[in-house]
Amino acid sequence: MSSGVEIRDGGGVVDESLTSLTDAAHAILGELVAGGAALGWVDPPSKPEIHALLEKVAAASRAGDGALRLAYSGDRLVGLGYWLRYERPTHRPHADLEKVAVASDAQGLGVGRLLTAVLVDSAREAGIEVLTLDARGDNEKALKLYRTLGFREYGRLPDFVAVAERRYDKVFCMLDFRD
Ligand SMILES: CC(C)(COP(=O)(O)OP(=O)(O)OC[C@H]1O[C@@H](n2cnc3c(N)ncnc32)[C@H](O)[C@@H]1OP(=O)(O)O)[C@@H](O)C(=O)NCCC(=O)NCCS
Repeated sequence: MSSGVEIRDGGGVVDESLTSLTDAAHAILGELVAGGAALGWVDPPSKPEIHALLEKVAAASRAGDGALRLAYSGDRLVGLGYWLRYERPTHRPHADLEKVAVASDAQGLGVGRLLTAVLVDSAREAGIEVLTLDARGDNEKALKLYRTLGFREYGRLPDFVAVAERRYDKVFCMLDFRD
């Protein structure tokens, strides 16, 4: 499918386009989280929460402090992801890749790889020095994807991620563009 998928820059979304993007992103993220996806939420996020998140990432993108990328199959949003520059003054050359997500019925077709590769390229082009991410230890699919795109694991917090009574490792990965 990825051949029919177009990756768009979401940095320009404001007002009405932000509202319709929020609806589509909320549907994807809500469904994934309800199905147990490791995206940092225990319960599906609310629409206002997704709206605020997208607004923040789009604004950061316009300021050169982030990138929001959207995967479309025709007119349908099938995936999204973003990176944000670290806020701490001593970490400003670096950024964190977050919430790469593909709608469940569009998974396994290359969309996640394309989306992540475009995000990595945009971070490199923006002059980011180190791109980090973290993933839940049981998220083999995502960890394999990141490894094949050049990320390497630099640490792990055992049994750190809490989902009700269950505990999972938190795995830290990095891609150093200075290498
Ligand atoms: C992780 C995720 C973004 C991958 O997107 P996707 O579109 O399904 O992935 P792709 O089809 O592009 O496959 C990318 C790679 O993932 C790995 N992968 C995909 N399906 C897999 C499977 N069933 N088992 C193991 N690895 C798999 C492979 O390395 C694959 O690359 P390859 O096909 O070249 O071998 C997607 O599964 C998702 O949205 N998951 C839920 C949210 C989530 O966990 N996000 C990551 C948070 S850290």
